[in-house]
This record gives sequence, structure tokens and C-alpha cells, in this order.
Amino acid sequence: MNLFYIGAGFVGTCSAVISADSGHNVLLYDIDLNRIKRLSSNDRQEIESCIYEDGLADMLVRHQDRIDFTADYQKVEEFLDICDGIFLCLPTPEIGETGESNLSYYTDAAQKLAHSLVMRNTGTQKKYVVIINKSTVPIDMVDKTAEILNAAGVKNYGIVSNPEFLVEGKAIEGSLRPDRVVIGAWKQQDFDIMRKIYQRFYDSPTVEYIEVNPKEAAAGKLLANYILFSKLALTFDVIGRTCETFTKLGFENIRKVLTTDPRIGTWGMYNSLYAGGSCFIKDARSLYYQLQTAGQEANLVNEVYLANRRQFNTFMGRAQKEAGFVWKDKIVALIGLAFKRDTNDIRNSPSIDIANFLKEQEVKKVQVYDPAAMDNFKLVFPENAQFTYFSHEFDTVKNADVIIIATDWPQFRGLADAMIREFGYTPLIMDGRRILQHRYKDLHEAGFTIIAVGGPLMKSAQLSTD
Ligand SMILES: NC(=O)c1ccc[n+]([C@@H]2O[C@H](COP(=O)([O-])OP(=O)(O)OC[C@H]3O[C@@H](n4cnc5c(N)ncnc54)[C@H](O)[C@@H]3O)[C@@H](O)[C@H]2O)c1
Repeated sequence: MNLFYIGAGFVGTCSAVISADSGHNVLLYDIDLNRIKRLSSNDRQEIESCIYEDGLADMLVRHQDRIDFTADYQKVEEFLDICDGIFLCLPTPEIGETGESNLSYYTDAAQKLAHSLVMRNTGTQKKYVVIINKSTVPIDMVDKTAEILNAAGVKNYGIVSNPEFLVEGKAIEGSLRPDRVVIGAWKQQDFDIMRKIYQRFYDSPTVEYIEVNPKEAAAGKLLANYILFSKLALTFDVIGRTCETFTKLGFENIRKVLTTDPRIGTWGMYNSLYAGGSCFIKDARSLYYQLQTAGQEANLVNEVYLANRRQFNTFMGRAQKEAGFVWKDKIVALIGLAFKRDTNDIRNSPSIDIANFLKEQEVKKVQVYDPAAMDNFKLVFPENAQFTYFSHEFDTVKNADVIIIATDWPQFRGLADAMIREFGYTPLIMDGRRILQHRYKDLHEAGFTIIAVGGPLMKSAQLSTD
């Protein structure tokens, strides 16, 4: 089949390459020419510097004959004559902190598409085409998209909601072996076409292939993200806080007690300074906004958002409150910039808020490192007298007064040994991921003061706070 993707971001690119891998011919369009050039470079390093996703670069190179990239709409218009399915993979960020989704990227793309669709097949529109929404959008967005298409005079088309459930950092693995594929359509004809597009999943004994209506598909996605987000908030704000408040409660031991009950489950039972990323926050906010606009109070939905924000403020506030640490004029090592490991995505990363906090506190220097996300972070915080970028975590933490660990890259576990062995002094350690938890005792005995999410202060007499 001939498939057209609009938006070459995390979702569009990962999904397009899986379509190519499933035997389809794919055209991927984005307004960002630089992005298109890098993704189509066939150079693994160049691709990874654009989207760092395990396995993505290999697959793009392997399927270069089946997948074409363009920022040129004329090429798109030629492709529309033979196109079977069009995937919309556009950003839908929150407008400020209102909860309302900014749908302008989506509607701009839909309007431009509509004008081209009416001209296909020299204006006869004889080829039936399905428009498939993959962006996370308000519950009624598929019907609103149909209104845009109808207003432009588009005929002979179907419209489908196909929410994306990929997990950044595991997007390729997850897209090759999804738990479920959800298709929301109003017409059987559209379900039939989607079954052909997703034949490999429709036939798979391990994938739940779910057919519902478009509103159920969109609502299912928003609710799924809200539930996941609420599990994290519960871990941070209830389980973690309990372990921080009372002595001799090991977070990992409590977790074992809880997660062995299959009704509680394991997902989300890890403590962190913040749940960032481009999805959970904005999707929970969007659900809250939609419920409120429909006359509901939606207090529980909002509370999850507030609990996440509270977690960040509590963690950063502990240095001063519990250890008497004064930030002004200090040297800070900030380890981990991506919102989580295995990605270079810094959208809503706690490191952005930390960096802003450090600037406000007038620290002397911020020494920064991340294995994948430094190029993206430099766009927000350029290298200057205050911000210095390093190429290894160990060099980054040297000479710092405080070390903040903000991302759970596994390689950071090695820091404990190096610090105990080679440091002649003992900076404050703020572990926002409990990544050094296996060595807290040793670090404390070696004279380090530790503030970790999900644990009480481990204060050493050697901490200098002036
Ligand atoms: N990233 C995730 O993990 C994830 C998971 C599930 C769902 N989603 C949802 O999928 C959607 C896309 O997310 P993403 O992370 O891929 O976003 P992204 O920002 O990585 O990518 C969006 C791309 O769309 C392009 N674009 C913007 N306007 C355009 C236009 N008019 N025409 C063509 N291209 C245009 C941008 O240049 C960008 O490359 C969002 O609604 C998001 O909530 C994301």
C-alpha cells in the first residue's frame, strides 16, 4: 500500500519506518527541512542526533528503498494520486498552563491537505483514501477533522482515529511488538483498509487488535495516559513521601511488599524527581480541560498534575530545608538532561526547571552532561560563563559542591565507586532517581551527605553549607 505520513517527529518517523518494514511504500513529509535532511541522510550518527531511538537509524537505513522523505509539497501532491492512507502525526502541545491543546499545527496541516486532496486524480478524487489521526487530540477531533475536509470539498475519503501508544526510548521495539493496536472508525470500509495496513498486527496472536469508534479511541488514549501518570504521582507523593518521612523505611523494600500483589502491579513503582516528557502532563491537562469545559470539576485529574509539580518543588527545596545548603555562588553538577533515559527528548524535562532554578539562585557554575541530549539542551541553555558542557559524567561531577542526578541513565551507577575512590572531598549528592541507592550506605560512610527521592536525609558531619 502507499502510505503518507505528515510530521516526521518521534511518532511519525517511528511509525513510518514500521510501515516500511511491513512492506508498504512510505512518503514522510515535514515542514522542517533540516529534520528531513538529517533523517534521510542514511548516516546513523546524523539520524541519532535528530531522533535518538534504539534501532531507528538501522531500520531507516535498511528500508531506504521503501521510505522517502520530503519537505516539498509538490512531491506530496503527486503521491496523493496513488495514496491509500494518510497519517497525521502532528504536535498538540498545551497552550500555556490552561490544559487546552494547541491544535494549530494539526488544523494547519489538515487544511493544507484538504486543498490538495480535492485536486487529486486531476480533480476527480476517484481514489478512496483514509485519513488516520495518530496525534493525541481532544475526544471529538476526528469529527472536527471531517468538518475541515468537507468544507474544502474533499470526497471519497474515510477518517480514522489510531492513537499511538509508543514509549520513547523503546519506540521501535514497542512498535514492532505492540500490546495493542486501537482503531476508531465509523465505517466498516475504513476498518477493512486499516486491517490491510496493519495486517501483521491484525494477524498476530500476541497483539490485541481493538476496533472501536473514533471518540472511544481518542478518549481511551487520554485516559490511559492519565492512569499511568496517576500511578507515578502515587509513587512520588504517597509511597515516596512516606519513605522520606519515617526513618528505616527502604523504598525498594516497601516496593517489593507492594508490587508482589498483582492487583497493584509493577509499572510506575519507581521514584523520581518529576514525570516529564511530552505526553503525560499535557494529556492529563487536556483531559482536565475537556472535563471542566463539559461542566465537571475533575479534581482528581488535576491533583495528579499538582502532585507531580509538588514532587519537583519538594525535592529541590530539601537541600536548603533539610541540609541548610545555600545555592548562591556554588558549583553544581547536573547529570542527566533528557526527561528519561534512552532518549534525547528534553520536552518537560526536570533538568530544564533545575537549570532555571539554578540561574535564579545565582549559582556560580553549572557543569552539565548527558549521553544523548546535550545538543537539544544547548539550544535552551547555550554554553557560556555559567553553563559548561562535559563529555563524561565523572569529569562533570569533579569540583562540584552539589551533584544533581536527574535522569536514570544506567551508566551513572558507576559514579559511586569513582567518587568514593577518587574524591578527596564530599559534595552534597541529590539523587533524583535513586540510581545510587545500592551505594548510599557506602557513600554516607565515606562522608557524603545524600538527599534522595523516596528516602530521608542522610547527613554527614562533613557537609559544608556556607
Ligand atoms: N512522543 C511520544 O512519545 C508520543 C507518544 C504517543 C503519542 N504522541 C502524540 O503524537 C503527536 C506527535 O508527537 P511527537 O512526539 O511525534 O511530536 P514531535 O514534535 O516530535 O513531531 C512533530 C513533527 O511535526 C512537524 N510539523 C509541525 N507542523 C507541521 C505541518 N503543518 N506539516 C508537517 N509537519 C509539521 C514538526 O516539524 C515535527 O517534526 C502528539 O500529539 C503527541 O501527543 C507522542
